[in-house]
Amino acid sequence: MGFISDALNRIQPSATIAISNKASAMQAEGKDVIGLAAGEPDFDTPDNIKDAAIAAIKAGKTKYTAVDGIAELKKAVAAKFKRENGLEYKTSQVSIGTGGKQVLFNALMATVNPGDEVIVPAPYWVSYPDIVMLAGGTPVIVQGPADKGFKLQAADLAKAITPKTKWLILNSPSNPSGAAYTRDELKAIAEVLLKHPQVWVLTDDMYEHLVYDTFEFTTIAQVEPRLYDRTLTMNGVSKSYCMTGWRIGYGAGPEVLIKAMAKLQSQSTSNPSSIAQWAAVEALNGPQDFIAANNKVFKERRDLVVSMLNQARGLHCSTPEGAFYVYPSCAGLIGKTAPSGTVIANDEVFVTELLAAEGVAAVHGAAFGTSPFFRISYATATKTLETACERIQRFCASLR
Ligand SMILES: Cc1ncc(COP(=O)(O)O)c(C=O)c1O
Repeated sequence: MGFISDALNRIQPSATIAISNKASAMQAEGKDVIGLAAGEPDFDTPDNIKDAAIAAIKAGKTKYTAVDGIAELKKAVAAKFKRENGLEYKTSQVSIGTGGKQVLFNALMATVNPGDEVIVPAPYWVSYPDIVMLAGGTPVIVQGPADKGFKLQAADLAKAITPKTKWLILNSPSNPSGAAYTRDELKAIAEVLLKHPQVWVLTDDMYEHLVYDTFEFTTIAQVEPRLYDRTLTMNGVSKSYCMTGWRIGYGAGPEVLIKAMAKLQSQSTSNPSSIAQWAAVEALNGPQDFIAANNKVFKERRDLVVSMLNQARGLHCSTPEGAFYVYPSCAGLIGKTAPSGTVIANDEVFVTELLAAEGVAAVHGAAFGTSPFFRISYATATKTLETACERIQRFCASLR
């Protein structure tokens, strides 16, 4: 009998965290490495949010709180859903966790039994399949075709649903592709789900505010109110409010689910940091104008990166609607040989050779379930991005 549990042996460490750590370690050794692997805004947390945290410390708000969040934050979350998404939730339908990741983890661990299937559209955020497997469930991967913007097609969803399907996970805008679903696309997915009342929807709206051009964000419970009773709408302050380190995420859905998630949290981490919760209250209730200012910069960076990658030999990069990622194809380079003599057999070899030759850290598409692609996070200073893209161009040109 092994010491490590079978459940843990089923999963892998997060590939994105592993590559970011590798890039940081190379930087610490003095190597000239540009890290484009981490998914976090380079902008600082706004001052009003920091001040709210300092005030919370000074006011002694430093004790345990209710397991799944303080009433003030639950109210702020309910108000956000009403204001921005037209969704009505009571505070008893809201759960606060240590990052969006914990909310997602709680929901899946609280509901998935061995043998249950969870539909995960690919390319997917790295943690979805692993959390499903940790819970003993089976992730059912359904590819979103590249020529359809990597989005799950309703017909493919219909084919993937079985009597064992418990959840569909939707993520819009998507990490890693940046793809975001229009109202009509969500409506088509909802039509399929209406025929299968046993399937719940976990919608990960973490990048809600990061959409560009004229794209209008919408979420599935808003598009199809008949799914409200089986949807967990998940979101958080990490990305939009530049608060990745504060660790506050939230979800809203039916009370039966929210209570089960709180039960699990009560026997694991208990409450998220009291101080971070007060900071999140200010984030949600305070001024929102910095989001548009940040988005202007993100959009310029997206356009720069897409244009420069499309000038690299053998790469093709489409323009996504949101988040701060692009997901270019390296199909044109598979089978070529790097100056090191290594054959670029797949996207993992491509990013490994790119890091070794030019010191640019990106994440291979296989980690997100869709090859041969790779993910670049453009949440990095514009000048640095320009240099990174020049290096990528040089690397691609060096392949024979
Ligand atoms: C799609 C998606 N969902 C959830 C998360 C987790 O967010 P948090 O840092 O709040 O746990 C991330 C973070 O990378 C993400 O990209």
